[in-house]
Amino acid sequence: MNELDGLVDSARQRFAQAATPADLENAKAQFLGKSGRITELMKGLAALGVDEKKARGAVINQAKQAIEAALTARRQELAEAELQAHLKAEALDVTLPGRQRGIGGLHPVSLTLERIEAIFGSMGFEVAQGPEIESDWFNFTALNTPEDHPARSMHDTFYVEGGPVNAPNLLRTHTSPMQIRHAVQHVKKHRAALDAGRAMPEIRVIAPGRTYRVDSDATHSPMFHQCEGLWIGENVSFKDLKVVFTDFCRTFFESDDLVLRFRPSFFPFTEPSAEVDIQFQRGPLAGRWLEVAGSGEVHPNVVRNMGLDPERYIGFAFGMGPDRLTMLRYGVNDLRLFFDGDIRFLSQFQ
Ligand code: DAH
Repeated sequence: MNELDGLVDSARQRFAQAATPADLENAKAQFLGKSGRITELMKGLAALGVDEKKARGAVINQAKQAIEAALTARRQELAEAELQAHLKAEALDVTLPGRQRGIGGLHPVSLTLERIEAIFGSMGFEVAQGPEIESDWFNFTALNTPEDHPARSMHDTFYVEGGPVNAPNLLRTHTSPMQIRHAVQHVKKHRAALDAGRAMPEIRVIAPGRTYRVDSDATHSPMFHQCEGLWIGENVSFKDLKVVFTDFCRTFFESDDLVLRFRPSFFPFTEPSAEVDIQFQRGPLAGRWLEVAGSGEVHPNVVRNMGLDPERYIGFAFGMGPDRLTMLRYGVNDLRLFFDGDIRFLSQFQ
């Protein structure tokens, strides 16, 4: 113990009270500053004799060092506290699940369309696309659909502005107009060969796309998809239709024992016409006949509207519903789910 221990203690206490670095520097000045307590004591040495000065100086120095040590320790404490407060404020919980960016994917109907294109592509079919706003001629007249046919009634068709007054443009009600559009292009390309009486390469095409009808319930949507198929050559028969479409359905549904039924029907643009039903032999839909397409041998009037001689060129056409194929493939029972844009539904197909 010496007489300056009290001073050192009060410095320690004062430093401990300092809550911030600035406060601590003020406290330091009280003891070590120019007019601080230690400095004052040092000044007092001048009046002493040599021996006394030495002894007293040593005591003051000891006190000074103790105060400096206390200051350094408190500085470190405050710096550490500041760092901890900082870290706490900027706390980052690395155990929280990350916010993931959605990867996205193809719509189930797009998956079906890709599948249809791949399968028909492997059988040598081209893929054609055409306008969704269509003229009366391509949608109806060229397809041998007389003016009084029920398919033309306002009930089924969305009409739009434009076109002749008595035959306004419309949102195509099926993809069948692409039969005419594509065939006309094809014939144009091979006009020279045809005029010279030479053979024209066969027309083999599918045309997938959006179609529109005034209709809405669990199995009908005002916008839906169709995929048209057309094969025209010099000797393309109903038998070829059966082979091609059977092959397609079995490949599409990955089911070799799938059974097809071509049920006689009527379409203005085919003769004979058939509706195609499929029947699964296993699974939840087994045993039921499910309609998937319309089809038939292309009507001579339609072949003529393609710019071809129906005595020489013949073939088959079909039109199927990719939405329905998607429902059957994935077991979806409400068509509207496809077009509601609900990610919870759509993400199940990725
Ligand atoms: N276009 C018909 C429809 O929408 C489907 C169809 C039937 C297309 C027979 C064809 C066909 O090409 O030959 O109901």
